[in-house]
Amino acid sequence: MTDYAGFARFYDRIMGDRSEEIDRIQGYIGKYLPGARSLLELGCGTGALLAGLSPGLAVTGIDRSPDMLAVAARTAPDARLVQADMTAFSLPARFDVIICMFDTINHVQSFAGWLTLFSCVHEHLAAGGLFVFDVNTAGRLERLDGMPPYLDEFDGNTVVMTVRSAAGALSLWRTRIFEWLHDDVYRLHDERIYELGVPLATIRAALAGRFELLEEASLDSSPVSDESDRIFFAYRHGPASTRPAGS
Ligand SMILES: C[S@@+](CC[C@H](N)C(=O)[O-])C[C@H]1O[C@@H](n2cnc3c(N)ncnc32)[C@H](O)[C@@H]1O
Repeated sequence: MTDYAGFARFYDRIMGDRSEEIDRIQGYIGKYLPGARSLLELGCGTGALLAGLSPGLAVTGIDRSPDMLAVAARTAPDARLVQADMTAFSLPARFDVIICMFDTINHVQSFAGWLTLFSCVHEHLAAGGLFVFDVNTAGRLERLDGMPPYLDEFDGNTVVMTVRSAAGALSLWRTRIFEWLHDDVYRLHDERIYELGVPLATIRAALAGRFELLEEASLDSSPVSDESDRIFFAYRHGPASTRPAGS
């Protein structure tokens, strides 16, 4: 069974409204590439972001989970959806913008995988194109270890989520969804997802040379550090010297 198989049906209900992320991405595009026409999302999941971005942009989403893509096909009917591994994909197109949001890059469990993802992004971005992604910092992942479970209830279902340190720099996000069937009868969906914490300096060094850093920001606008919660990065394809005139 692939990751997110049991989670897909409940994902949007558990994650809630995504308009803040959509606004943030639109903000980066408005600031750095207002003429953008096409966008690729890596790890698009249920298509919530693609649906919010698609009126103005031709959107494509890649995900390896057929269950998440099945939801995305309904949520974002205008999106082109591709089942693929975001660390090793090849599409016959270049995009003005590529995004990888909601700690999706942390799902890649080896840093070698992050490097091949960055290479795929470089190959698929138009010259001067925009690469926007976010990460859960190593500090946040460590802090979440030992925190009490997150609990939620909806439509008779109960959700229990824990984050625990695992081998090396990995954390295990375990989401147990007790789906209410009838009376006192529940079906358990037990989703185990690993996230890799990577120091920010390692991420910056891996992108330097092929991408130009435009902006880094923390979720609450506090100074960016490995102890921040989530960090958003905006990069431009190519070193500063290759930036197209007028952009
Ligand atoms: C946290 S969800 C985020 C979904 C979406 N980006 C959003 O913001 O709602 C992570 C998604 O990444 C996908 N994913 C994880 N690793 C992947 C990989 N190597 N290749 C493609 N998709 C992957 C999962 O299937 C899941 O749908």
